[in-house]
Amino acid sequence: MVRLLAIGAGLLFTLVVMISFVADAYNAATTDTPETAEYVFHEEARSPDGGWSFNGPLGKWDIAQLQRGYKVYKEVCSACHGMKFVAFRNLADLGYTENQIRAEAATWQVPGIDPATGEATMRAAEPTDYIPSPYPNDVAAAAANNNAIPPDLSLITKARHHGTDYVYSLLSGYQPIPNELKAEFPEFKTPAGLYYNPYFQYLNIAMAPPLTSSGQVTYDDDTESTIPQMAEDVTAFLTWSAEPTLVKRKQTGWPVLIFLLFATILAWMAKQQIWSAVKPAKRKD
Ligand code: HEC
Repeated sequence: MVRLLAIGAGLLFTLVVMISFVADAYNAATTDTPETAEYVFHEEARSPDGGWSFNGPLGKWDIAQLQRGYKVYKEVCSACHGMKFVAFRNLADLGYTENQIRAEAATWQVPGIDPATGEATMRAAEPTDYIPSPYPNDVAAAAANNNAIPPDLSLITKARHHGTDYVYSLLSGYQPIPNELKAEFPEFKTPAGLYYNPYFQYLNIAMAPPLTSSGQVTYDDDTESTIPQMAEDVTAFLTWSAEPTLVKRKQTGWPVLIFLLFATILAWMAKQQIWSAVKPAKRKD
């Protein structure tokens, strides 16, 4: 009786797992991605010509590129965008030493308290501080930017569909309104204070093109700072900030796969060993 119950419970469990698996697989195969503007316009986003160094199963950060990207962020984007989830000490990932980080942090100002008077003031940042927003709050940010709030960039490549390619395409994709669009939708306009960008989901974005000329940022290595190059570098930096462990995650996958393969072989050998004594006798015919 107990045995029957056990078999019944086992069967029921298997049945439930099977049903949920089949139902989910069916759903996944038949549901289309949502046709939101973000999904449609970001489908057009492209990687740079050489691709991304961190893509693919063996991808790696290009440390020099991340350093250049940080420089672009600092000299251009940080005028409007904060990165509240990145502390200066995290820049150690970009190959900086403790002293370099201390010196780098000190070039930034963060809100602090004057120890002598107790009043709010600004002080030089320390390695444990986070990259500050240039605005005290959203109201001030909107007031300074034609009513649009520049989002925090720490996680932006994760917060948008095809994030990395999208940010790269957005930064290097400002252009005049194409003639086909004008012909098809004569009423389409870019109001004053907005800028046409085919990758932005509303097509008109409140961010003026931030990268406007070659040489805008002076790189410390020999790389030429063209607009696509600066867009690529800062996007790599933003991909790092959104997932600093991306490369480690991929690198961990390989030993895990090798271990599983090894464990499978061991299990198979153990099975051979254990059952060798009870092999059915060879048929004699
Ligand atoms: C002069 C201010 C300013 C500068 C400089 C600036 N941005 Fe922006 N950015 C904005 C504003 C304002 C928005 C919000 C736009 C909107 O919602 O229409 C924005 C939005 C964005 C978005 C989000 C777009 C989306 O899909 O919602 C990204 C990504 C972005 N900026 C990246 C950058 C990068 C990278 C830099 C540096 C190369 C930069 N920005 C420099 C003002 C700025």
